[in-house]
Amino acid sequence: MATENGLPETGQAETADYPLVGQHPSIVKLRELIDKVAATDVTVLITGESGVGKEVVARTIHARASRRNGPFVPVNCAAIPHELLESEMFGHERGAFSGAAGARGGLFLTANGGTIFLDEIGEMPLALQAKLLRVLEDGAVRPVGADRWTPVNVRVIAASNTDLPAAVKKGAFREDLFYRLQVLPIVIPPLRERRSDIPILIEHFLARMRARMPGRTWTVSREAMVQLWSYDWPGNVRELEHMIERLVILSENGEIHAGLLPPNLAPDTRWTDARPPAELSASGINLTALVRELEGRMINEALKQTGGNKQAAARLLGLKRTTFAAKLRRCGVIAVEPRRADQRQPKGPA
Ligand SMILES: Nc1ncnc2c1ncn2[C@@H]1O[C@H](COP(=O)(O)OP(=O)(O)OP(=O)(O)O)[C@@H](O)[C@H]1O
Ligand SMILES: [Mg+2]
Repeated sequence: MATENGLPETGQAETADYPLVGQHPSIVKLRELIDKVAATDVTVLITGESGVGKEVVARTIHARASRRNGPFVPVNCAAIPHELLESEMFGHERGAFSGAAGARGGLFLTANGGTIFLDEIGEMPLALQAKLLRVLEDGAVRPVGADRWTPVNVRVIAASNTDLPAAVKKGAFREDLFYRLQVLPIVIPPLRERRSDIPILIEHFLARMRARMPGRTWTVSREAMVQLWSYDWPGNVRELEHMIERLVILSENGEIHAGLLPPNLAPDTRWTDARPPAELSASGINLTALVRELEGRMINEALKQTGGNKQAAARLLGLKRTTFAAKLRRCGVIAVEPRRADQRQPKGPA
């Protein structure tokens, strides 16, 4: 179903502050997996490139679990100095080390009854990895300097954007801990492998901006959408999110047009006029991007020439109507221009 903007619905999960938006089959599957995982207490390892949504998934698991009313405690293992990480996680006794004036409970105790999210687990020092393994196995923590174990009821979700199996091979990550965490692996694909979610995420971020700035609306031009769609998003959803915030600020009369996009999003400048290069230069080309770009341009052009009539546009391109419709969905270009009242509908299903 489409929203009033003509954009598809976001299909988001119910976690209000950290919604998991997307309808790509990989995200639909991910939601199913989240539901299964949330019904259990097993340890989960979430992997994926930077900005793909690992924390969003961790929060969604917690929000759907029976322990949802307990705390969700994120710990960035890369941000805490190695020598402090153990006492941060497990607490310490008074005088356990210089500077430990009073006893402290630690983050595992803070997370009691809830979930601890160990982000960037690959950065955890080896000695601490061994201690974490014991905690996972025994369900108890031992504060630094203490000789007693304190039972904790904490669900552990870990995340990594580095290649943990490679770290295991190098001896930088414990194999036994890896397998303990890996009981249920969740892999989040990069955004460029689920491009059909780009327009959906854009609509989600625009809706959030509308909520922040009541009365304002923005539309994305077809050409801008094609470029946003074609870009590879190395920083994934986070990069897209920041781009939309930036484009909203730069927009003119509520229009986000291609001219506002930074140069690195522009289609390959070695290839203008929608004409493929005559020869393959020594530096090579990105054939996939080239083909995608050509498709996007031709679809746009055909729609322009036929006043938005999809059947006629398909004929112009020598495509079956269903093939054309599939390409259109893949490009997401149709989603961006709200249908004009004066525009005639082609007969039959579009
Ligand atoms: N599917 C999604 N729907 C809506 N927002 C998303 C989605 N995925 C990611 N985001 C947003 O993108 C940003 C990055 O997400 P998140 O912090 O979960 O990524 P990450 O994989 O943990 O990144 P990093 O590896 O850099 O820690 C956040 O602002 C998050 O809200
Ligand atoms: Mg993160």
